[in-house]
Amino acid sequence: MTLRFSRTTFAAMAALAIGFGPAIAEPVDDELVVNEELTITTKAAAAPHLDGHMSEVYSGWLFRTDETRAMQMDDFDNPMFIYVERGAEAWTTAEGTEGKACADCHGALEEGMKGVRAAMPKVNAAGALWSMEDYINDCRTNRMGAEALKWNSNEMKDMTSAISLQSRGMPVNVAIDGPAAEFWERGKEIYYTRFGQLEMSCASCHEENYGNNIRADHLSQGQTNGFPLYRLKDGAAVSIHQRFVGCVRDTRAETFAAGSQEFRELELYVASRGMGLDIEGVAVRP
Ligand code: HEC
Ligand code: HEC
Repeated sequence: MTLRFSRTTFAAMAALAIGFGPAIAEPVDDELVVNEELTITTKAAAAPHLDGHMSEVYSGWLFRTDETRAMQMDDFDNPMFIYVERGAEAWTTAEGTEGKACADCHGALEEGMKGVRAAMPKVNAAGALWSMEDYINDCRTNRMGAEALKWNSNEMKDMTSAISLQSRGMPVNVAIDGPAAEFWERGKEIYYTRFGQLEMSCASCHEENYGNNIRADHLSQGQTNGFPLYRLKDGAAVSIHQRFVGCVRDTRAETFAAGSQEFRELELYVASRGMGLDIEGVAVRP
C-alpha cells in the first residue's frame, strides 16, 4: 500500500530533510504558441486512469519563469535546435556496412517520423517495451551495420531531438492496454514506490507537491512531453531517463540506469500521466 502525506505534513518533513519551501505559485496562466503559429496544449483534463490522483495535468512549461518560457516560443531562441539540426543531417547521412541512411528506408524526416515520438515508448513486434533510443539502435545495428549509440550521447540526443520535433503539437498517444498493460502496471508501481534515505516516491514530489517550491525549484508534475529538452543548468540536452536518474538521486537512493527495463516501464507510465497534453519536444527548462 502506498502511504501518502498531506501537502502540509510532507512540506514539514521535506523542509527538514532537503529544504522545502512553501507554495509560492500555481502554474502560470499563459499560452504556449511557438513561432507565433503553433499553439501547444499545456493544460488538460487528466486521463481517466488518474481519477482520485489529479484532475488536471500541466506541462512543466507552465511552472517556469517568463524568460525560460520565452526561449521555447521561438525556435531561434531554443538551444535544442542545434541538436535538431545535427540530427536532421545525420538522418540523410549513410553509415555502417550496408551504406544506408535513415532516409533511405524512412523517407523524409518530416513524413517518416511524424507522430512517432507521441507514441513512445511502445511494445515492439517481439513483445518488448522499447523507448525511441532502442528503435534507433535496432535500425543502426540490425539494418545499417552501424554501431549502437550510447543512450545519453550527443549523437543519440541529436536523433531523438530531430525525431521528437516531428510530433510537436500532437497529443501524447501512448498505448497502455493490450500487450503494454503489464509494463504500464510495473511502471506505475515504480512511480509510487518510496526510494532512498528520504523515502520519497515520484508522487511525493510530482503529484502531492507540484506548485510548491523545493530548494530553488518550482515543482512541476514531472511530465515528459517536453523531452528531449535543454537544461540551462547543464548547458546541454537531457534525455527522459537521464532526468529520472537525477530525480531518484535527489532522494538519496540507488538509481536504475538509463536504458534499464525499469526506466522504460516508468517512462511509459509517466508518459500516460501526460495524456491530453501535446508533445513539445524540444523544450527548454532551467
Ligand atoms: C534498411 C531500412 C532501415 C534503415 C536504414 C533505418 N530503418 Fe528505422 N525502421 C525500419 C523498419 C523496417 C522499421 C520497423 C517498422 C515497423 O515495424 O513499423 C523501423 C523502425 C524505426 C523506428 C520506430 C518507428 C515506429 O513508429 O515504431 C524508428 C524511430 C526508426 N526506425 C528510426 C530510424 C533511424 C533514426 C534510422 C537511421 C539511424 C533508421 N531508422 C534506419 C527500417 C530502417
Ligand atoms: C525530491 C523531489 C523529487 C522527486 C522524489 C522526484 N522528482 Fe522529478 N523533479 C524534481 C524537481 C525539483 C524537478 C525540476 C522542477 C520540476 O519540473 O518539477 C523535477 C523534474 C522532473 C521532470 C522534468 C519535468 C519537466 O517538464 O521538465 C521529470 C520528467 C521528473 N522530474 C520525473 C520524476 C520521476 C519519474 C520521479 C520518480 C522516479 C521523480 N521525478 C522524483 C523533484 C523530484
